[in-house]
Amino acid sequence: MSEQIQKITVTIDGKTVEVDPGTTILNAARQIGGEVVPPAMCYYKPLKGSGGKCRTCLVEVSKGSEKDPRPMPKLVASCSTTVMDGMEVKNKSSERVVDARKGVVEFLLINHPLDCPVCDQAGECSLQDLAFEHGADTSRYEFKRREFDKIDIGEYIKLHMTRCILCYRCVYVANQLTPNREHGILKRGDAAEISTYIQNSLENDFIGNVIDVCPVGALTDKTFRFRSRVWYTKPMDASCDCGKCGGKAVLWMIGNEIARVTARKDQYGEVEEFICNDCRFNKKELKDWNVEGPRKISRHSVISTNHYEKTAPAHTPLLNKA
Ligand code: SF4
Ligand code: FES
Repeated sequence: MSEQIQKITVTIDGKTVEVDPGTTILNAARQIGGEVVPPAMCYYKPLKGSGGKCRTCLVEVSKGSEKDPRPMPKLVASCSTTVMDGMEVKNKSSERVVDARKGVVEFLLINHPLDCPVCDQAGECSLQDLAFEHGADTSRYEFKRREFDKIDIGEYIKLHMTRCILCYRCVYVANQLTPNREHGILKRGDAAEISTYIQNSLENDFIGNVIDVCPVGALTDKTFRFRSRVWYTKPMDASCDCGKCGGKAVLWMIGNEIARVTARKDQYGEVEEFICNDCRFNKKELKDWNVEGPRKISRHSVISTNHYEKTAPAHTPLLNKA
């Protein structure tokens, strides 16, 4: 008979949950849900080994465990710290955490251009959300920012290195979903950059997923760039019979046209099932897909603005038919 796993009790911002041993503080918080969940810019559950790079998920451990109740002296990264039985954690209820997070946002924005008005990621950018919630109104940075030329990586992907926050997620995608990785992070410190190493193009079947995992607008879909603001499109769940991937995607429609295809993401912005390049870049006709219906979008997201109203505007014939 299999032995029953002894659960561990952890309290985060006054809310208690029982989790399996080995669970990280971040994932324990996700089991509680809502406000107690720290933001995460580099951790990405479907990508093994991700996390520990950005420090946005810092929390305060005010009680180490039942056996050793001493608090941890420094804030810890919740995505890579495992819980102990009886641990007590403070997320938003800690002034130290709120202050540190503000500092992390300031660092992330040091070299990040303020080009949200023209960036394709606007409206679905984790850094935009983070800056809105934890950022300061002004910048104290007076030095020259890093500058890079935009780089074409392959037929479908454009890299804006100026926007990259070096979270490594795209590197993990290339490592874990494609047979031969051709890009990585070169150099160190403030010279570090994502590069394809002599600008080899990335042409593996699943490499398009780097676009979905990128938390900012550093990697963009060349078939969609500058076509529309995301909140003017209508996301629809759709599926297809694909020999390479599960074929479950979201179609971002402008009228009856498929403007963009992405994988489906959960409430933490993490891909539920990675999709292949064929589905993402080549199936842009409605006949390629079985449209299941409107994608449920959080009402807090700008993408939900004016969506699925009873009387759809004239330029959304697809919705008028539904
Ligand atoms: S390009 Fe995007 S996914 Fe890759 S390291 Fe930079 S921010 Fe992260
Ligand atoms: S999400 Fe934990 S360090 Fe980046």
